Amino acid sequence: MDVVPSPPVTLVIFGATGDLTRRLLMPALINLTDQGLVDHGLHILGIGIEPGDGAMLTGRLETFLSTLGAEHAPASNKAWQNLKSRIDYISGDFTKDDIYQDIRRRLDTYSSGNAAFYLAVPPQFFGPIVEKLAEHKLTEEKPDAFRRIAIEKPFGTDLQSAKALNARILACVEENQVYRLDHFLGKETVQNILTARFANMMIEALWNNNYIDHVQITAAELVDVGTRGKFYDATGALRDMVPNHLFQLLAMIAMEPPNGFGAEAIRSEKSKVLSALRIYTPEEAREHAVRGVYSAGSVNGKEVPAYHDTQDVDPNSKTETYVALKLDVDTWRWAGVPFYLRTGKALAARDTEIVVTFRQVPFAQFRETDVTRRLPRNKLIIQVQPNEGLSMEISIKTPGLAVDTVPISLDFRYADKFDISKTTGYESLLYDLFRGDQTLFQRADGIEAGWAAIQPFLDLWAKEDEKPEPYQPGSNGPSCADDLIQRDGRKWHEIGDPA
Ligand code: BG6
Repeated sequence: MDVVPSPPVTLVIFGATGDLTRRLLMPALINLTDQGLVDHGLHILGIGIEPGDGAMLTGRLETFLSTLGAEHAPASNKAWQNLKSRIDYISGDFTKDDIYQDIRRRLDTYSSGNAAFYLAVPPQFFGPIVEKLAEHKLTEEKPDAFRRIAIEKPFGTDLQSAKALNARILACVEENQVYRLDHFLGKETVQNILTARFANMMIEALWNNNYIDHVQITAAELVDVGTRGKFYDATGALRDMVPNHLFQLLAMIAMEPPNGFGAEAIRSEKSKVLSALRIYTPEEAREHAVRGVYSAGSVNGKEVPAYHDTQDVDPNSKTETYVALKLDVDTWRWAGVPFYLRTGKALAARDTEIVVTFRQVPFAQFRETDVTRRLPRNKLIIQVQPNEGLSMEISIKTPGLAVDTVPISLDFRYADKFDISKTTGYESLLYDLFRGDQTLFQRADGIEAGWAAIQPFLDLWAKEDEKPEPYQPGSNGPSCADDLIQRDGRKWHEIGDPA
C-alpha cells in the first residue's frame, strides 16, 4: 500500500515544554519529516506555562536533541532544520481564556485550517482544556478544516471517572474527533498481532479453545518507580498498565476477525471482546488477583530503595508495584481458556511478551515410548519488546534409531530483517492523527469496558488493610503470583527468556 504524506495541519501541543514532547513527539515528527510523511504545511504550536517564545522552545528541543548522539545533532539534521522554522510557542495558563484567543489568532495565520490539539498534560487538565477549546469554537470543523483532539493516558482512574471524562469530552466534540492514545498501539510488534493472526491460516485456524490451553500476557520492567513516586503511589501497577496497555494486547489476541481493516470494524471487535471480560464478584476478585511490592535490593547491579522508601511515596502505602490476574473472556471462542496477565517494576528483565500455549497432543502414537512424559506443549511467543519478534515452539524427532523428540524453537527477530530501532512508536500515532485514521486509538466504549473489568479488584483492595506481598528487586515477582498460576497446574513463562 502506498504511504502518502499527511495533509497540512497545525499540531497544537499543550504541555510543550514537558518530557513527552521532547523525548517522543519531536523525534517522531523529525522521523516523519525525514521520510517525507508530513506535509510542508505542518506547523507546531507549543503551549506551556513557562515564559518564552518559539526560540525558547526550539532552543530547548535542540539541547535535548544534541544529547541523542551525532546522528541527531541538530545542526546537521536536515529534517530538524526543515521543521524548526515552523515551531511557535504561546506561554499561558490552560485554564484562562487569553491563550485560546491567541491560539485562534495564530491558527488564522497558517495556510491550513486543520488543527490537532495534543493534550500532553496532567489528566486533571483534559476536561477543562477540551471545554475551553469548544467554548472558543476551536473544535468546530468545516468541510476544509478538521479539528481533532489527542489525549494521553491515564484516561480516568476508575470506571466512574472514565465515564465522567468521556461524557465531559463528548459534550464538546464528536467521538470521531477524539484520539485517545495508548502508546503500546504504536509499537510495530503490537500492530503485527493482527497480521500474524489474520494473514496466516495456520495461526488463525487454531485460534480457539479447541486448541489453545491458556494465554499469558506479561509486561515486566527493570525500572523502579524512581522519581515518579507522586503519580505512582496514587496509581499502582494495576491502573498504570492493565486497563490500557495489557488490555490492548489482550483485545488484539482475543478479538473476532473484523469485517475489514477499517477503524470502526477493528475498534468494534476490540470493544466487544473487552466487554466480554467476566466481571468478578468480590470473592472471585480475591481469587483471581495477587499483588506485590518491591523491597530494597538491586537490579542489574544498581541499588534500588524499597518502594516504601521512594521519594513522594507514603511509607504506609498499600499501592502495588506488581500485579498478576487470571481473567476469563466469556465468548464461545475462549470459554475455558484462562488469560493470565502480569506486570511489575524492578523485575528480573525488561520483557513484554504474549505466550499462547496450545493443548497437549493426544499422543496415542507415543504410547509405547517414554516420549509422552517429555512432550511439551506448542507455544507461540509474540515478543513485543525488547528483541522484537515471534517464535514458535514445536517438537521434532531427535535424530537416531530410538523414538524420541526434542522441543525446538522457530524464531523470527525483526532486527535480522528490518531496522525498527530508530522509531519512537509515536510515528504511526501522529501520522494517523493527521490523516484521520482512528484504528490505533481507543474508543469511549472500549475504555469503559476495560475499567469495568478491573473495577472489582480496585474495590476489593480499597477495602483491604493488607499490604501487597514484598518481592526482591531483580526477581520474577512475589511468590503469590506463582501460586496463582500453579494451582491450575501451569507455570509462568520465564521472564527475559525470548523463547
Ligand atoms: C507507561 C506507564 O504508560 O508505560 C509506565 O505509565 C511504564 O509506568 C510505561 O513504565 C511502559 O512503556 P514501555 O513502552 O516502556 O514498555
